[in-house]
Amino acid sequence: MPFENPAPENGGRDGGRDGAGENEAGTPRARNGARAAHPPGGDILPLRLEGVCYAPEGRTLVGELTLELRDGGPTVVLGANGAGKSLTLRLCHGLLEPTAGTVRWMGPDAARARWAQAMVFQRPVLLRRSVLANVVYGLALRGVSRRERPALAMEALRATGLEAMAGRQARVLSAGEAQRLSLARAWALRPRVLFLDEPTANLDPAASRAVEEIIAAIGAAGTKIVMTTHDLGQARRLAHEVLFMHRGRVLERSPAPQFFQQPNNEAARAFLKGELLW
Ligand SMILES: Nc1ncnc2c1ncn2[C@@H]1O[C@H](COP(=O)(O)OP(=O)(O)OP(=O)(O)O)[C@@H](O)[C@H]1O
Ligand SMILES: [Mg+2]
Repeated sequence: MPFENPAPENGGRDGGRDGAGENEAGTPRARNGARAAHPPGGDILPLRLEGVCYAPEGRTLVGELTLELRDGGPTVVLGANGAGKSLTLRLCHGLLEPTAGTVRWMGPDAARARWAQAMVFQRPVLLRRSVLANVVYGLALRGVSRRERPALAMEALRATGLEAMAGRQARVLSAGEAQRLSLARAWALRPRVLFLDEPTANLDPAASRAVEEIIAAIGAAGTKIVMTTHDLGQARRLAHEVLFMHRGRVLERSPAPQFFQQPNNEAARAFLKGELLW
């Protein structure tokens, strides 16, 4: 696979655009003067959640969570519908503010955390532009120089099998192609951490497998993957560790083989048997 860690010279892409906020992919933008990509040797991990709760209008939806996400293989968040998985990913990525507790990047390059991470959602949000322009736009938001954008974007399209579709309108892509495009857009940014919320939920088995292979390759190239999925086969194939959530809390955190062979709590056992109700 043509996934590689960023070359040293990529670490120096200086930001040129001002303004924090979200782009269409829900990814925080770089501020003026910020470096656009994860610089070699730098790191934002671990991510530490301490006493994190999300309780809008007093109703606790998530929490209390105290945990650390470290470098290493993919962390897969499992749990029944409504368990709080998506909210937890949004809290980690900074799209939601916790109502109590703190979410902090602890690595030496924590100050760059906003632009060293990306998120991909179940339904890709694409611009009414070409496939290539969608990736280029994400790079522009991160302040990558105009000159560098096309080559980086094409590299990401090649890695996701979309090279031949570069000139096509993004809005006409199939669901599987559209999700590969959102992965290309995220991958072009060389995020240190990539959050994925049910990235294959709308896809047929073949498209799902293609997306899964891309995620595995991104992880193998050194990006920390944190994802949710309802596809237990996919979780078994991808997960290094499992965080099992139930009613807003993490009830179990185990190495993946252990979780799937012998989960150590009752709710997780019921979940794996397909018997867990909210
Ligand atoms: N903005 C919100 N305001 C109020 N309640 C919310 C909000 N977002 C989510 N919820 C509720 O919080 C709970 C957890 O939602 P969340 O989307 O995190 O679940 P999930 O584990 O991702 O479920 P699924 O597997 O269905 O995606 C649910 O009961 C949901 O209805
Ligand atoms: Mg969800």
